[in-house]
Amino acid sequence: MTTVKNICCIGAGYVGGPTCAVIAYKCHDIKVTIVDVNPTRIAAWNSDKLPIYEPGLDKVVFDRRDKNLFFSTNVDGAIQEADLIFVSVNTPTKKAGMGAGRAADLAYVESATRRIAQVATSSKIVVEKSTVPCRTAQSMRTILEANSTKEIHFDILSNPEFLAEGTAIDDLLSPDRVLIGALQTPEGIKAQQALAGVYQHWVPKDRVLTTNLWSSELSKLAANAMLAQRISSVNALSAICEATGADVDEVAYACGRDTRLGSKFLKASVGFGGSCFQKDILNLVYLSEQLNLPEVAAYWHQVVVMNEYQKKRFVRNIIKTLFNTITNKKIAVLGFAFKKDTGDTRESAAITLIKDFIQESAHVAIYDPKVEREQIYMDLADSGGVVDTRQQVEKQVQICSNAYEAAQDADAIVVVTEWDEFRDDQLDYAKIYAGMHKPAFLFDGRLLVNAPKLRKMGFKVNVIGKTE
Ligand code: NAD
Ligand code: UGA
Repeated sequence: MTTVKNICCIGAGYVGGPTCAVIAYKCHDIKVTIVDVNPTRIAAWNSDKLPIYEPGLDKVVFDRRDKNLFFSTNVDGAIQEADLIFVSVNTPTKKAGMGAGRAADLAYVESATRRIAQVATSSKIVVEKSTVPCRTAQSMRTILEANSTKEIHFDILSNPEFLAEGTAIDDLLSPDRVLIGALQTPEGIKAQQALAGVYQHWVPKDRVLTTNLWSSELSKLAANAMLAQRISSVNALSAICEATGADVDEVAYACGRDTRLGSKFLKASVGFGGSCFQKDILNLVYLSEQLNLPEVAAYWHQVVVMNEYQKKRFVRNIIKTLFNTITNKKIAVLGFAFKKDTGDTRESAAITLIKDFIQESAHVAIYDPKVEREQIYMDLADSGGVVDTRQQVEKQVQICSNAYEAAQDADAIVVVTEWDEFRDDQLDYAKIYAGMHKPAFLFDGRLLVNAPKLRKMGFKVNVIGKTE
């Protein structure tokens, strides 16, 4: 078996950074260099304030940085030194051209692969870490093989990442499984074993799954689609609950107690966000269309349609409850990140909701513990055809440094992200109530607060999936 001694990771983002930092943390005998074309990001990785917020990440990075963990903009140098290279670049949904709005944009994967082909001076194991459509490894192989010589040989593996933001370090330290796909040739299997050897420094052998390349690629899209489908299913049920008096928490609990279903990922919400679920489902939809499977495409697409419906339904409910107009009313939004314990705002439900509030001429006061003010303005000013200018956003949106400031003189509070500090045992809701316009409304998009308790204080509470 080949023993991996030197790893390069191309892409120092939410996946590349934590994943390879944990490899360095667990494998002191391996030198790990994480490279990126973005010098600001690399500078942040080399500073005291890391570019992403992730519980436990600081400890892992500060423990190994400049020992066997390095962050650099010298992409070529790191490629040349490495015997194994992770390609962990972004694969966003294409904005223009063929498959726009659905297909994954593979330009970054291709350019990283071409770079490897251009500068490599020795054989490499190239690992597809980014989430990609099924059979992307074939394109990578074609590019690399066109450049391989007798002396330089490339093996391609698929090793999709299953970490969730906010729990990345725990997920990486004790993963449910690590998946490694390879071509079932003697060289492919040898490369697969070499990567398995890296993970086996800390992951039990029975959790390292080996499959063929295409199963591995498809499993990543499939897992995300199935997880998102559960949320859309429970969110669809939340609408029925509100119309019938059933309680979505009770329904989810009753269903989740069936061990065949399990209790996780059944929390009704204002809709799922994040950089991956929507992108990966659309990716699967596009793949199905390309394979001439329109019914399959329509089936998965409905998961995304349902998610959009849930966000719009929530906004409609807020406007209706606030006497059919929110013009010039102050709405306090608690949370902007797509989930708690991350500063990531990509595809956050907050963006859709707040853009709608702005459209309705409301004043919006936002507080999030980890999202930077500039990021919020950028996300809201990014029009997508809805909001035109940064000036309009700045006029209507105030960024606050705590929940009390946001709620002062507000007509309604909207809980969008489930940060622990918004819970009713952490935040002084009596104080908040005192400072609000009356009637004081609270809309809980995360099933976070104890509604009966807040109602006793005087709040008019509206909770997703509940009438009581
Ligand atoms: P990201 O945007 O945070 O990071 C990607 C990084 O790659 C950026 O810093 C970018 O500058 C860099 N990059 C792009 N092209 C490059 C090149 N040619 N050379 C060097 N650097 C380059 O993205 P992310 O959230 O880390 O996601 C990366 C991949 O992992 C995506 O395919 C995503 O679907 C997948 N994934 C993400 C998560 C998650 O929780 N974010 C989880 C599992 C899988
Ligand atoms: C998700 C998957 O959970 C990871 O396994 C996967 O690796 C990753 O996508 C990816 O490929 O990027 P992530 O998007 O970081 O991870 O976060 P999740 O915890 O899955 O949450 C996604 C969204 O669903 C959030 O907005 C969250 O609040 C929402 N959600 C989650 C619910 O509304 N209800 C739930 O029960 C669970």
